Amino acid sequence: MYTQLIDSHGRHIIKLRISVTDRCNFRCVYCMPEEDMAFLPKPEILTFEEIERLARIFVGLGIQKIRLTGGEPLVRRDLPRLVDQLSGIPGLRDLSMTTNGIGLVELAHPLRKAGLDRLNVSLDSLNPEKFMQLTRRDMLQKVLDGLQVAFDAGFSPIRINVVAMRGFTDDELVDFAQFARQHPYRIRFIEFMPLDADHNWEDSKYLPGKEILERIDTVYPLEIVEPKGAPEPATRYRFKDGLGEIGIIPTVSEPFCDSCNRIRLIADGHLRTCLFATRETDLKTPLRNGANDDELRRLIREAVHNKEQGHMINQVGFIRPNRSMSQIGG
Ligand code: GTP
Ligand code: 5AD
Ligand code: SF4
Repeated sequence: MYTQLIDSHGRHIIKLRISVTDRCNFRCVYCMPEEDMAFLPKPEILTFEEIERLARIFVGLGIQKIRLTGGEPLVRRDLPRLVDQLSGIPGLRDLSMTTNGIGLVELAHPLRKAGLDRLNVSLDSLNPEKFMQLTRRDMLQKVLDGLQVAFDAGFSPIRINVVAMRGFTDDELVDFAQFARQHPYRIRFIEFMPLDADHNWEDSKYLPGKEILERIDTVYPLEIVEPKGAPEPATRYRFKDGLGEIGIIPTVSEPFCDSCNRIRLIADGHLRTCLFATRETDLKTPLRNGANDDELRRLIREAVHNKEQGHMINQVGFIRPNRSMSQIGG
């Protein structure tokens, strides 16, 4: 695995997450405020051509995997065209997307045809009322239909992200485990992180991965899936009887920053080297002022060199980033 993007802690950066918009058609409580969200004006957002130019430079530097995120990526008009542009970049090994699933009924087939390799879908409750309470939209069935269309379009396995919150997710853990056993979907529980726009996060509100595992294991025994290949945030567990698997993303209780291999390009063209970064590198201004590839490469290498060692949630001195999850892209 060759990459020129190595930070000062020796970590090899091979994944880039590109947020294509900060807009979204949901208003999940752990992410966005119910109203009065200020969105980026359109001219501030990178065009598809600008994204492609930067993506080519990143891949040239050693990025192997790109994941498209939002806000909700599918609210950006004509997204399959961007997928088509990116999937043709020589050297890119994997192109994926994280979506809330609402647009998949219409777009799963075009996205697949355009060259999208993998899909992660956010789905935090299987109960229509709870789903509405959380997303502030009555759209559970549409997401479930979207998952089916995505599977029919050839996406497999599809991963489902469940943000695990105490008092909310607890009583659905076994339902989700059943769902993972009955469908070709891998359910991954993500510990709720302090990136909600409403600043409601408290230590007591996240559901620790260990507890999730114990609760599911009692009903459906699990065993760990030994990791292979590049590190990923999820620790995977399969059901001992072979019927599917789940994963835990223990961001808060067991940070995996030591093996972090990712950076983020956000919709307004800033490079963020950590989910919890408090500083960013502006790539859009030099790009629009005519910087050549060498100049952009230098900025990227320098930002990566200075990548943060890790987050400090739960420690004295933790500073919440100004941007919330919908502006960063998860
Ligand atoms: P791959 O890039 O294919 O490994 O996908 P992924 O699992 O990272 O993608 P996804 O968008 O589904 O991310 C799932 C969740 O993992 C995110 O929403 C975050 O909660 C968490 N996560 C992703 N990247 C980071 C990171 O850099 N730091 C931390 N602390 N959590 C992250
Ligand atoms: N904590 C943890 N995960 C979050 N996501 C959004 N907000 C939060 C949060 N505060 C997840 C979404 C999506 C992924 C990109 O990030 O559910 O799956
Ligand atoms: Fe939208 Fe995703 Fe944020 Fe929910 S988590 S409001 S789906 S960007």
